[in-house]
Amino acid sequence: MKKYLILLAAVTMLLASCSGKKEISKPEEESREEVKPKWTLGMSQCNLGEPWRVQMNQDIRNAAKNHPEIKVIFKDAQNDSLTQRSQIEEFINADVDLLIVSPKEAAPMTPPISAAYDKGIPVIILDRRILGEKYTCFIGADNKMIGKAAGQWVVEKLGGKGKIIELKGLMTSTPGQDRHSGFREGIKGSDIDIIFEADMKWLEPEARKEMESALARFDKIDLVYAHNDPGAHGAYLAAEAAGREKDIVFIGIDALPHEGQIYVKQGILAASFEYPTGGKEAIETALAILQGRPAKKEITLSSRIFTTENIDSGGEFIERFSK
Ligand code: FRU
Repeated sequence: MKKYLILLAAVTMLLASCSGKKEISKPEEESREEVKPKWTLGMSQCNLGEPWRVQMNQDIRNAAKNHPEIKVIFKDAQNDSLTQRSQIEEFINADVDLLIVSPKEAAPMTPPISAAYDKGIPVIILDRRILGEKYTCFIGADNKMIGKAAGQWVVEKLGGKGKIIELKGLMTSTPGQDRHSGFREGIKGSDIDIIFEADMKWLEPEARKEMESALARFDKIDLVYAHNDPGAHGAYLAAEAAGREKDIVFIGIDALPHEGQIYVKQGILAASFEYPTGGKEAIETALAILQGRPAKKEITLSSRIFTTENIDSGGEFIERFSK
C-alpha cells in the first residue's frame, strides 16, 4: 500500500510538472509575439561614402528603435545605379511591407521604384527625386531655395561682384540640378561672374582635382560655391596646397554638426547651408502609412544657414532670403 501511495505521488508530481510546463510556455510565446516585428521595411541607400548618408541611416535607426513593431533592413548600393536597381528589386521580391529609397540618380531609379509602387508597396523617397509621380511620399529640403539663398548670400558677401567657381553635385541627380538653377537665380542681376564650373559628383577627391585645374588657370578667384560640404572642403585643401586658401571664400551645403558646422567654426568655410537627412520623418511617415493614417505626398524640410557670425547662436532659417 505504501509503495502504491509513493507511486501515485510520483505520477501526480510528474503530471503536475508537465502541465506546469505548458502553462509557463504559453505566456512566453505571447511575449515573444509582442516583440516580433509586424512590418519589414527595406531601406535602399545609394552610398555610404559621405558622412551625410551615414547620418541618414543613423537617423532612421534611431527613430526605428523605439518601434519594435517595425524592422528595417538596410542595403548600400555603393554609389552604383545598377546595384541600387537590383537591390530595390530584391526588396520587391522579398515582399517588404514598405520601401524607403534615397536614389543615386533620377532616371535609372524610376523604373524599379515605379514597379514597387505599382505592386502596391508604399514607397518613401528621400532627398533625391525620381521622374514622375509613382511614389507614396517624397521627403527632403527645398534644394532650389537653398541654391537661391546661397546665391543671394554670395551677392551680399561679395558686394555684388566677383569671380567665382561652382563645383556641382552629380548633375543626373535632382539636388545637383536644383542647387545649380537656384544659385543662378540668386545671383541674377549682379556682376558675379562664374569663371569655372565642374561636376564633382558630390565627391571630395573630385572637387579637389577640379579645384586644382581652376587654380592653375585663374590668378584671381574670390569664392567657391560647392554643392556639398565635402566638395567645399576638397576645394579648400587644393587651395591650401597652393598657398591660396586665405584669398578665397568657401561655402558648401549639408552643415552636419560634425562636418560642415565644424568647418565653419574652424574658419575653413564661411557658410554652410543645412540639408536635413529626413531619416526621422521617414520612419514617422512609414508608421503612418502602415497604420493606415493619412500621409502627405510631399514633406518639405526647412534649412538654416550657418556662418562665422551666427554659428554660436544656432544659425538662421533661410526663409529670410525669399523675402
Ligand atoms: C551625400 C550627398 C550630400 C548631399 C546629398 C545630395 O551623398 O552628396 O552631401 O547634400 O547627397 O543628394
